[in-house]
Amino acid sequence: MSAFAQALRRLPLTVSRPFPASPAAATGGHAVIERARPLPLVLDGVVKEFAGRRVLDGIDLRIPAGQFVAVVGRSGGGKSTLMRLIVGLDRPTAGRVLVDSRPVSGLRPDVRLLFQDPRLLPWQRVAGNVGIARGPGWRERALAALDDVGLAGRGDDWPAVLSGGQRQRVALARALVSNPGLLLLDEPFGALDALTRQEMHGLLRRIRDEHGFGAILITHDVAEAVALADRVLVLREGRVALDLDIGRPGERPDALAADFETRILKEV
Ligand SMILES: Nc1ncnc2c1ncn2[C@@H]1O[C@H](COP(=O)(O)OP(=O)(O)OP(=O)(O)O)[C@@H](O)[C@H]1O
Ligand SMILES: [Mg+2]
Repeated sequence: MSAFAQALRRLPLTVSRPFPASPAAATGGHAVIERARPLPLVLDGVVKEFAGRRVLDGIDLRIPAGQFVAVVGRSGGGKSTLMRLIVGLDRPTAGRVLVDSRPVSGLRPDVRLLFQDPRLLPWQRVAGNVGIARGPGWRERALAALDDVGLAGRGDDWPAVLSGGQRQRVALARALVSNPGLLLLDEPFGALDALTRQEMHGLLRRIRDEHGFGAILITHDVAEAVALADRVLVLREGRVALDLDIGRPGERPDALAADFETRILKEV
């Protein structure tokens, strides 16, 4: 390789270049987002206190690799706190959190947390936001992930021109590029209108089937919990008040949904 070509390779990749129409073209037709290795999660007597006030009061949970769990509960019940412990942003006061049989000791790329607010960098184009971790082949991976979430061809746009639902898709694509084995979603669709929510439900179900990751979804919407999850937990006063196995969506009779919703609402 010439010195010029080598220098060119060392240049930081910019996003100002127009992207190819499809990521398949960018990657020569190879899929660049692999199927995840789903990660199991165990919580062992997890307690969390803030200034002596107990928010989580001994949570014991076993979540097998690849399971989709929804967590519902009243505001202030400790749902987001639980997520922060699982993703490694905070430590329990007592008890243990184990991802893939190892105690959580900080952030890791294959456990990703999505918030209600997509948190995109306004000075980065869409592809740059998705491939924020950079690394070899980042742009191809970013484009493939965008294609995956229905945003093919939007890599060169600025976040500001996207709708709320599209921005949340970008945030999802950004999580997908690191090939998560466990995806945590803290009310990710809370700010979206009903129709866009429905679309996002369909998208999440498809992506989950394709990638095989496990997920924990916090939601205030019991219908959403039943539409997406295999299992629903109700968190009340720092404890698990209900742990209901409802079976995988699409593999259970739709007629059961209303009954599940009633049982869950009774416990919230
Ligand atoms: N860093 C912190 N310092 C002190 N108190 C905190 C901290 N984080 C959370 N809390 C408290 O812990 C309790 C649970 O908060 P958390 O955010 O987990 O609730 P939540 O179930 O996610 O509520 P919502 O449904 O409104 O999002 C609240 O009373 C909150 O004030
Ligand atoms: Mg919360």
